[in-house]
Amino acid sequence: MSSIPVGILGATGMVGQQFIALLADHPWFNVEWLGASQRSEGKAFRDAAAWRLSNRLPTEVADKVVEAAAPGHAPKLVFSGLDSSVASEIEGAFAQAGHIIVSNSRNYRMFDTVPLLIPEVNADHLALLEAQGVAQGWSGRIITNPNCAVIVLAMALAPLRQFGIKTAIITTLQAISGAGYPGVPSWDILGNVIPHIGGGEEEKVEVETRKILGTIGQNKVAFHPMKLSATTTRVPVQNGHTGSISVGLEQRPTPEAIIDAWMSFRGRPQELELPSAPPQPIVYLIEANRPQPLLDVNRDGGMTVTIGRLRPCPIFDYKFVALGHNTIRGAAGAAILNAELMHREGLL
Ligand SMILES: NC(=O)c1ccc[n+]([C@@H]2O[C@H](COP(=O)([O-])OP(=O)(O)OC[C@H]3O[C@@H](n4cnc5c(N)ncnc54)[C@H](OP(=O)(O)O)[C@@H]3O)[C@@H](O)[C@H]2O)c1
Repeated sequence: MSSIPVGILGATGMVGQQFIALLADHPWFNVEWLGASQRSEGKAFRDAAAWRLSNRLPTEVADKVVEAAAPGHAPKLVFSGLDSSVASEIEGAFAQAGHIIVSNSRNYRMFDTVPLLIPEVNADHLALLEAQGVAQGWSGRIITNPNCAVIVLAMALAPLRQFGIKTAIITTLQAISGAGYPGVPSWDILGNVIPHIGGGEEEKVEVETRKILGTIGQNKVAFHPMKLSATTTRVPVQNGHTGSISVGLEQRPTPEAIIDAWMSFRGRPQELELPSAPPQPIVYLIEANRPQPLLDVNRDGGMTVTIGRLRPCPIFDYKFVALGHNTIRGAAGAAILNAELMHREGLL
């Protein structure tokens, strides 16, 4: 047991609240500082935030006063769930002031020396941090986790790299919690499907996945060469992004070999037994009507990606359906796992 003080930027938002819930009983990290916008600054957290989770709001956090999102009083390690419209400036200022920012925002993900990390998939990309200080002029560091739809695709594809991934097409069905709070108006989403998600969602899926599955080179990542096409939609589901995925492979593995690759997939977090690591990062279900957000999204605390419906694809080679929890595995839980890995690798 160790007690490492942490701060949360964007603590009042959807992702910020998940950080608070997931860190409530964390064996290493202790929430000591909260930052958000001028709307929240100076208020007790319970008055600043509309708590949207079924988990209890810890009293010690509820009573904390939210501070301005500026370096000064925050601990060295800061998780960020900042709105992307402000994350560049604020996260950059914290990194310059010597903080380690473990971020959910898209702003720095594609910088050459910023790791875009899924600890089970590309833990070796942490080596980019060595060059980051000089490249960015920061005494601190920024590491990022992927977009919440990317995590579902990248986790599902990572074990298939051994078969040579040539092409992939994904159509997503993304939950409303992915749009933050209050998010999509109920008038627009109830009984509806919206065939577009703003902020360059489809481009993020196409580019981030290739960086994550790429190989580490001289101070940058050589992107995976696969061709990738994404369509992203918003559906009236509270939590859980589902993806319908078709994949083209160089080899011709049997369905059994693919399922075995998923079920036996493990990474650094499982090896190191990190506190937030799911015992089995990918679970394949044989039932024809799974995965479903209502039934499967919370498996292992929302840290597992659930896959089902593997079948031949008449255009590519195989198709299947994958599901992950967008605010846990796709956001706060992913960032906490990143920080746990950094701690165990001596990088905090
Ligand atoms: N929701 C997801 O599933 C998900 C998944 C992966 C990544 N992300 C990314 O994570 C980030 C947060 O998403 P979210 O869904 O939690 O959004 P959200 O609910 O809208 O929360 C945004 C947070 O940013 C703060 N903020 C806004 N303007 C600010 C300013 N000028 N200065 C300081 N703080 C400011 C807000 O504080 P106030 O309450 O004081 O306004 C709030 O705490 C985004 O970059 C998003 O793209 C979200």
